[in-house]
Amino acid sequence: MKLDKSETFKYFKKSDRLSLKWDSYFLVYDKIFKKYKNKKIKFVEIGVANGGSLFIWRKFFGKKAKIIGIDANPYSKKLSKYGFKIYTGNQSDPNFWKKFFKKEGKVDVVLDDGGHKNLQQISTVHYTLPYIKDGGMIVVEDMATSYLKKEFYNPSKFSFISFCNKIIEFINYRSGLIKKKMNFYSKKIYSIEFFDSIAVLNVDASKCFKSSSITNNVNDPSLNEMRNSFHFQKTRKVIKDKLPFLKDSKFYNKLERKMFYRNRLLNFKENLIIKKILRNIN
Ligand SMILES: C[S@@+](CC[C@H](N)C(=O)[O-])C[C@H]1O[C@@H](n2cnc3c(N)ncnc32)[C@H](O)[C@@H]1O
Repeated sequence: MKLDKSETFKYFKKSDRLSLKWDSYFLVYDKIFKKYKNKKIKFVEIGVANGGSLFIWRKFFGKKAKIIGIDANPYSKKLSKYGFKIYTGNQSDPNFWKKFFKKEGKVDVVLDDGGHKNLQQISTVHYTLPYIKDGGMIVVEDMATSYLKKEFYNPSKFSFISFCNKIIEFINYRSGLIKKKMNFYSKKIYSIEFFDSIAVLNVDASKCFKSSSITNNVNDPSLNEMRNSFHFQKTRKVIKDKLPFLKDSKFYNKLERKMFYRNRLLNFKENLIIKKILRNIN
């Protein structure tokens, strides 16, 4: 396995407290958390159980980081004696979050390893997003529950992955092509990354603006949009070769566009090909 070089895996193995993680997570942690090492950050983990992971974070981020744990089980409170700040609460409860952020202020990273149910994961994002600093992130673990039937009742339009799909839509509201008003998510979430069972929401309001099309003003008349030009190429060529005067006919060119390359039926034909591609993924 490629974990020999993973720093977080090294601390996981060395931890003398029980921690329950999936092995694929460590390469992801190394990659996404690297930029916070030895920085004065506030790192929040939801779901700390016996504290195994808290010790990993302390070693990895260094002494300047404030490591905060949240768990529904009051048992975890005893981890306070090791210098962690521990809160007992329910990640789906908006009142819990209100009180939490009143005390802690804005934070850099929220890592959700709590109950993994749809409402719990969605609540984490919804209630913590306003309090994530620019350059920070929300990391949701075990999101493969979005595909689990037993206990999680997924796939469903209420799953966390369906929620992520909405977030992707909101990110695209920033596009100048889309006539949609940017909402709070569009204004805060810069990008979203997916790994095996982990979603990373990169937060940075300073990079979230309505985009506009720009050009560097170099005149290049050869630039033609070609996306629809591949349909009926032969037929169009035959028509134009046999009836060359049509080349300059505005009416014919308009008709050709409508019939041969900007046409809903052709889109339907392309969808059938896409269906076939999807069916052949194995
Ligand atoms: C998988 S364990 C966490 C393991 C820990 N991160 C580690 O690596 O050692 C999940 C924890 O989430 C807590 N939990 C479950 N539902 C929760 C909720 N709604 N709010 C907060 N914590 C919750 C459980 O009490 C449990 O301790």
